[in-house]
Amino acid sequence: MSEGRAARIIAVGGGKGGVGKTLVSTNLAVALAARGQRVLLIDADLGGANAHTILGIAPPLATLSDVVERKASLDEVAVATPFANLRFVSGALDDISAANPNHSAKMRLLRQLGRVDGVDVVVLDLGAGTSFNTLDFFLIAHTSILVVLPEPTSVENAYRFLKAAFFRRLAVVEKAYGIGDILEIARSQRNELGVHTPADLLAAIEKKNPDVGRQVRAQMARFEPRLILNQALPGELGSDHPDDDGMVARDMASACRRFLGIPARVLGVLPEDDAVRRAVRARKPLAVAAPDAPVKRALDVVADRLLAELTTAGVAA
Ligand SMILES: Nc1ncnc2c1ncn2[C@@H]1O[C@H](COP(=O)(O)OP(=O)(O)O)[C@@H](O)[C@H]1O
Ligand SMILES: [Mg+2]
Repeated sequence: MSEGRAARIIAVGGGKGGVGKTLVSTNLAVALAARGQRVLLIDADLGGANAHTILGIAPPLATLSDVVERKASLDEVAVATPFANLRFVSGALDDISAANPNHSAKMRLLRQLGRVDGVDVVVLDLGAGTSFNTLDFFLIAHTSILVVLPEPTSVENAYRFLKAAFFRRLAVVEKAYGIGDILEIARSQRNELGVHTPADLLAAIEKKNPDVGRQVRAQMARFEPRLILNQALPGELGSDHPDDDGMVARDMASACRRFLGIPARVLGVLPEDDAVRRAVRARKPLAVAAPDAPVKRALDVVADRLLAELTTAGVAA
């Protein structure tokens, strides 16, 4: 890949803590690096950074705090890891001000993300919740991955997260299209337009002004989150066919489309596997601690799918 071209950004989020965001982001970073991509893994869980533990390295002294506070560039705080092609940037750990960067500091950081020399892919491990900081990292990515468990509470959180991300993205296009008044109504709890979901909102905008409605719809259609169903039990997995992710994951994606109007797609399904806990305790990625484990093989499928997308995007760019 040529120097100077912006890296592709992959963000891994999810509404709840403990759903497997760090598992997915760190192991995908290792897998993509093993496939020859020059990867920068960034622990962007500004309040609860722990990706270094999964990589088995000491928490680096310089962190994202230093970037936010303009003491160093992203390139300068990136450390080497035991894995070829993989560099790492630690989250802000306990620094309160860096965990809540102000708007301009955050925008500066977001602009730097894709521009570190010698990096093809940036992988972001996000924190839980729907704070603007987390949503903005999620939305700036070329590939936004949402990790979900096959449990009603996790699914509920995932929908809430996607809805929040959708409205956050909409707020960015709001000024360009003069739809502030409709958004204002949609944001109020009991709105007379009956706008509750992103799909309702697009319909309301279209009704008021079909032309603007079409344009906003086209803008929002680019928000295509990918779902990873984690800790799936045997009955929730797909068949042995490599393209079959199973019904639970498919249903989840189609519910996003139907109820939220968000074109979510399934990126993969990971089984519940004790190898995960073993690897975490050993402070090693799955590729080292459990190379033959089912969860590692499932992550390889995800990495291959992502790589295929990255390659296509690279050719198209
Ligand atoms: N597929 C899985 N199989 C078994 N345990 C898992 C799996 N995914 C996650 N876990 C457990 O959940 C814990 C939290 O995962 P983590 O990736 O740290 O979540 P998050 O980053 O979303 O807070 C892991 O340390 C592990 O014990
Ligand atoms: Mg985490």
